[in-house]
Parts: sequence; structure tokens; C-alpha cells
Amino acid sequence: MTIEIDGLTKQYKEHVVVDQLSLNIKMGEFFALLGQNAAGKTTTIKMLCGLLSPTAGDALLDGESIVHHQVAAKKKLNISPQETAVAPNLTVFENLLLMGRIYGCSKTEAKKRASAQMNLFGLTPRQSNKAKTLSGGYKRRLSVAMAMMSNPKILFLDEPTLGMDVRARRDLWKILNQLKGQVTIVLTTHYLEEVEMLADRVGIMHRGRLRTLGTVQQLKHETKKNSLEDVFLELTEEGAL
Ligand SMILES: Nc1ncnc2c1ncn2[C@@H]1O[C@H](COP(=O)(O)OP(=O)(O)O)[C@@H](O)[C@H]1O
Ligand SMILES: [Mg+2]
Repeated sequence: MTIEIDGLTKQYKEHVVVDQLSLNIKMGEFFALLGQNAAGKTTTIKMLCGLLSPTAGDALLDGESIVHHQVAAKKKLNISPQETAVAPNLTVFENLLLMGRIYGCSKTEAKKRASAQMNLFGLTPRQSNKAKTLSGGYKRRLSVAMAMMSNPKILFLDEPTLGMDVRARRDLWKILNQLKGQVTIVLTTHYLEEVEMLADRVGIMHRGRLRTLGTVQQLKHETKKNSLEDVFLELTEEGAL
């Protein structure tokens, strides 16, 4: 297992935002975490990335506890956050180099990795463009490429295709498909078509709790629904808990 989540909980005063989440994700798996707005997806990802501390519970990332061995756990992962964070006045290449250097690569190694990522993400023709001049789709590609600069075992993608046009979204899917199997991916999205195309397994959260877990086929079968959208609607209905 690459990710073993056990009773992970986040509470703000009376409000339990993530409620005893337990789930395992295998090495190389592409896992989609679904749920309506405010279901607790981003909070879960932030806890797994060490950006928020859990109120209770723990998770092991490639064997390292996010509570007891935070520094070691953090080395296993990288994230392209919900709010894309690229340096606007640096070029595409400079953004990638900067990430490589932050993660301790030599200049030569950082350049090598940056070139490889630009190739993979179709960014080579834009390598000298400042990040602020990129379209939303390209900015997001850069953000994911930056996360890959640390050679993570686990990659978290929080709503990577939000607000993208159809073509930009399809282009990113192609790239993510290429990453499949090389790195364990945890993705959140509201685009269910994306999930059907990419995800090995799906978890649906509702009000902080994991409602269901399985392949798209399994979930359709268990709920006797023909589409993932119908599965989703049934499991996230008000009063569904
Ligand atoms: N710092 C905070 N203090 C209080 N409540 C918060 C805080 N951060 C998030 N929440 C609440 O936690 C819930 C889950 O948020 P979030 O994890 O962002 O959901 P999602 O990513 O599924 O849309 C929301 O109701 C949100 O308002
Ligand atoms: Mg979110």
C-alpha cells in the first residue's frame, strides 16, 4: 500500500469536516475522491500533505506516518493545489528549475528534469513564456509538471481541470494517462467523465464521511445505476446519511 488512511478526522469547533476516514490506496493506483462542495475533499488532501494537522487518526504514506514522521512523509508526495500556485513573473522553464532546486537537485539535474517534464506536458514550445501569460489550461499543466519535479511517489491533484475548456481538459487527461502507473495519483474533480476515463477506483465523500469505495463498475452494480452520475446523486442526496 502507498497510502493507508486510518480514522483520519478534522474538526473545527463543533463542525466535523472529515469524519474518521479510513481507506487504502495501492502503489501506482489512480484514485478519484469525489463529493459535493464542502464534502471534505480538500481538507483530506491538506492533511495528507502535511498542510493541516488532523484532529484524530493518522495516515501512512509509503510507510511514513503523517503525524509522527511528518518530514519523511512529506518527501513521498507532491501536490498541485486547488488554487494553482505558479510564480507569475518567472518563465515556464524557470518555474520548473526553481522547484527542482527547492527539492535539492543540482543545477544540471534540475535542468534535466525540467526538460523531461516540459516534454511530457507539452510545455517545451512555451518554455520562455512568463507563467502569467499562459492560459488557465497551460498554467495548470505547469503546476502539475512542477509537482512532478520532486519525483514524488504520490501526486495529489485537487480539481486540476476546474474551469478548463473542453480541449484543455482533454489534453490534460492525455498527460495524466501517461503518468498512470508511474506515480500514485489522488485526484478530486467534479467532472465524472474524467473519472470514468482515468480512475482505477473511486471514493465518494459526503459530509466528511466516505459513503462508498470501488471501481466505477462496482459502484454502478451495487447501486443498480447505469451512470456514475446517478450513483453520485444517490449517495450525496440530502439526508443520505
Ligand atoms: N479553517 C476552517 N475553519 C472552519 N471550517 C472550515 C475550515 N476550512 C474548511 N472548513 C469547512 O470544511 C468543510 C469542507 O471543506 P473542504 O475540505 O474545502 O471541502 P471540499 O474540498 O470537498 O469542497 C466546508 O464546510 C468548509 O467550510
Ligand atoms: Mg475542495
